[in-house]
Amino acid sequence: MCGIIGYVGRKKALPIILDGLQRLEYRGYDSAGVALVNGGSLEVFKKAGKVSELVSLIGDSGGPPSGATLGIGHTRWATHGEPNDQNAHPHWDCGKEIALIHNGIIENYSSLKRKLEADGHSIRTVTDTEVLVHLIEEMVKHSDDLFTAVRKALLEVEGAYGILVVSTREPDKIIAARKGSPLVIGVGKDEHLIASDASALVDHTRHVVYMEDGEVVCLTAGSFLTKTVHDEEIIKEVEEITFSLAQIEKGGFEHFMLKEIHEQPESIRNSLRGRLQAGQGTAKLGGLEPVLDRVLNARRIIITACGTSWHAALAGKYMLEQLARIPVEVDYASEFRYRNPIVNPDDVVFLISQSGETADTLAALREAKAKGATVVGIVNVVGSTIARETDAGVYIHAGPEIGVASTKAFTSQIAVLSLITLLLARHRGLSMEQGRILAADLASIPSKVTDVLRSSAHIRSIAEEFKHVSNFLYLGRGSNFPTALEGALKLKEISYIHAEGYPAAEMKHGPIALIDEDMPVVFVVPKDAIYDKVVSNMQEVRARKGRIIAIANEDDTDIGELAEYVIRVPRTYNYFGPIVNSIPLQLLAYHMAVARHCDVDQPRNLAKSVTVE
Ligand code: G6P
Repeated sequence: MCGIIGYVGRKKALPIILDGLQRLEYRGYDSAGVALVNGGSLEVFKKAGKVSELVSLIGDSGGPPSGATLGIGHTRWATHGEPNDQNAHPHWDCGKEIALIHNGIIENYSSLKRKLEADGHSIRTVTDTEVLVHLIEEMVKHSDDLFTAVRKALLEVEGAYGILVVSTREPDKIIAARKGSPLVIGVGKDEHLIASDASALVDHTRHVVYMEDGEVVCLTAGSFLTKTVHDEEIIKEVEEITFSLAQIEKGGFEHFMLKEIHEQPESIRNSLRGRLQAGQGTAKLGGLEPVLDRVLNARRIIITACGTSWHAALAGKYMLEQLARIPVEVDYASEFRYRNPIVNPDDVVFLISQSGETADTLAALREAKAKGATVVGIVNVVGSTIARETDAGVYIHAGPEIGVASTKAFTSQIAVLSLITLLLARHRGLSMEQGRILAADLASIPSKVTDVLRSSAHIRSIAEEFKHVSNFLYLGRGSNFPTALEGALKLKEISYIHAEGYPAAEMKHGPIALIDEDMPVVFVVPKDAIYDKVVSNMQEVRARKGRIIAIANEDDTDIGELAEYVIRVPRTYNYFGPIVNSIPLQLLAYHMAVARHCDVDQPRNLAKSVTVE
């Protein structure tokens, strides 16, 4: 949340920064701003709204007078202070010599503010960020250079930050620091970039350096020097970006979300590739090997995550308990870390995160590690903080996910959990014959997903029919309860329709009171062992005139009598079902949002990567 980019080199900084901001916009889009350092002056443009508003502002003003080759830019997801022009970043000091952009929260900002105001600083906004730039201004008075001043200031700060700082007094430098919010340096020829993630850098360089918490860096066109906040020098490793530019562009689709929905046959295939061993009926997961014994002998597995990743975790619990027979608990990361959880060294904690940067999930990781548990990451973004801090892990290899509403990461997370389940189950007594049946089913999932994607036009016509409703209920049982939860989340995230996911049988203990002729109910009802029970729940809805949309198998000839609309899905092994059955729910949410003229890729108030608690 909040996107940050900086450039120092020989080229004009502004177009590079604006382009980078557009790539980072998924991290927040409440306001945007840039600061350019042109010798002795600071040129700042900032505006509430999306990056396009900032671009218009700069265009209307006739553009910056200079061709500055150093600058910083920010796209904001508001925490402290409403998203207006004034609260937009960059913020500057009293003398307008130092400018700063920030991702995170300065928790002790009020006490710092009181002190700085007593010392004569005039602080114009209610943001926590502006306080930090005044603190740096204060430190500059007692330091040899900006690098030192930033380090000294950070020693007084509590909270989380990724910051970039520039000054007209040292016009060839960007100072950056990280604690809790990600920053990646791009190393080019006679130029350096720095951004919240590598997607903003890939246009310019494939060589990157990941900053760690507690590090401060001084970037010039020709050099970068990294130190700890306590002034110890650090040698950093340059790594290579693993994805291509094409992967982070829309490729002819109207929205990133639609592109990512349609990429799923390929992204799931990539999650399984080289790992599924159909002949032996098992899986090979190199990333899990260092801790495999500990996982196999775990007293229990705890899976913790947020949002969509939490729903994948729940789907994982059903399959792991059923097939590998290991007790599994699933916990929201934000709850886990604050309730002093009982975690022992013989527990294994799985952290699931698309971005690998979610603040709550990262905090849960550190809590579990501090209590001695083995921590395993199931992460999409290569090199992200969660991936680096876990003892072992399995990348889901879904490729870059840009749409704020997660789709392909969800199905790939469950695909990886299926592989882990298969591997553990085979070690714990599942026969090779059974393993082969499951492996064959998993291998067939990408082509089943292709089949479901063909229903897009049918689903769009259903969306047209329901686009004016205010509420939706999603019901499923067993392993499809998580599917129902995820379907409801997708709808509320992007179409702003209130939607609830519930276990189908639990409906009669509450939500049934909501059902009348205006209430659409989506049933996920594949032909599994509890099919008849779910059909009874459908009867209960129908008796109260609820409008039923059923996600049902292709060979289910009876379902049409109960449901007003049926979306067909191929049969899949029960516990892997959420992968295939969630596809029509993603498409339903997508088409509903488009029909309601909602901003699909940048839904209001949300951000893709939530790096604040
Ligand atoms: C945000 C996003 C969700 C995502 C959740 C967890 O809320 O909007 O789409 O599921 O964070 O993110 P993670 O990157 O940890 O999977």
